Amino acid sequence: MTDPTDAPGLPVVTRAHWFEDLADHMGPTYLRYAFTRGTAQEVGFIAGELEARLGPLAGLRIVDLGCGPGRHASAFASLGAQVVGVDIARRFLEVAATTPVDGPGQTCWVRSDARHLPLASESCDVIVSLCQGAFGVPPLGAGDRSDAEIVSEAARILRRGGLVALTAFSAYFQVRFLEESDTFDAGLGLNHERTVVHDPEGRPLPAELWTSCYTPRELRLLLGNAGLDVEALWSVTPGAYEPNPPDLDHPEFLVIARRR
Ligand SMILES: C[S@@+](CC[C@H](N)C(=O)[O-])C[C@H]1O[C@@H](n2cnc3c(N)ncnc32)[C@H](O)[C@@H]1O
Repeated sequence: MTDPTDAPGLPVVTRAHWFEDLADHMGPTYLRYAFTRGTAQEVGFIAGELEARLGPLAGLRIVDLGCGPGRHASAFASLGAQVVGVDIARRFLEVAATTPVDGPGQTCWVRSDARHLPLASESCDVIVSLCQGAFGVPPLGAGDRSDAEIVSEAARILRRGGLVALTAFSAYFQVRFLEESDTFDAGLGLNHERTVVHDPEGRPLPAELWTSCYTPRELRLLLGNAGLDVEALWSVTPGAYEPNPPDLDHPEFLVIARRR
């Protein structure tokens, strides 16, 4: 598989994102959080949808934006895909590199900001960004621009006819079930959550998370403006993806869109 970091003009990544502090602290502990147990179901559902639209995954080149410790990327590789996991957090990529691939595909890991990818134009078949992987977790001060830039980069590196599968927090659900630890900025559609994360020895670190929340209409407009036509948009729960029509009752939306 071609090393995608061969592309000229690689950006030099400095510590640019609040998630890097969390990744440094959690390291492999991230994979002990309950939500990561949904990986196999999530990948199985998305793989079925991709294969129905593109044919067998084996040999396809998939880029996982905001791959974290690589749980989805490794699972797609186990199904035979050639997967490039991209993340801004070095610590998570170190963990990802230790994950075995249980099947015929391959993984490689690239440290980069998803807004400026060191990957050639029209060089991949599928892009995934799941469970707020890069899309939906803007750097501080980036506002709405971050997700628009990520979607625009995704459209650039995707071949014509290729597919994007991404999830986003539902603004409806977030507001409807706002918790005490959350503050929702109605102007930005941005949720701020105070939480605590733990390192492998169980030491706590107070943490703040900023997550962009969306309506289906916003997702269609954002993707459509980048040249990505939405083919499916469902309301889902992590670890239990299924084709529910958009509603107010599920925490996330899952979108499948095709590059024009
Ligand atoms: C909530 S985690 C999700 C990780 C993974 N997709 C999963 O489901 O386990 C968000 C990840 O996105 C990465 N991230 C956030 N913004 C990014 C950006 N602009 N470019 C690349 N990675 C980014 C973070 O470092 C973190 O690993």
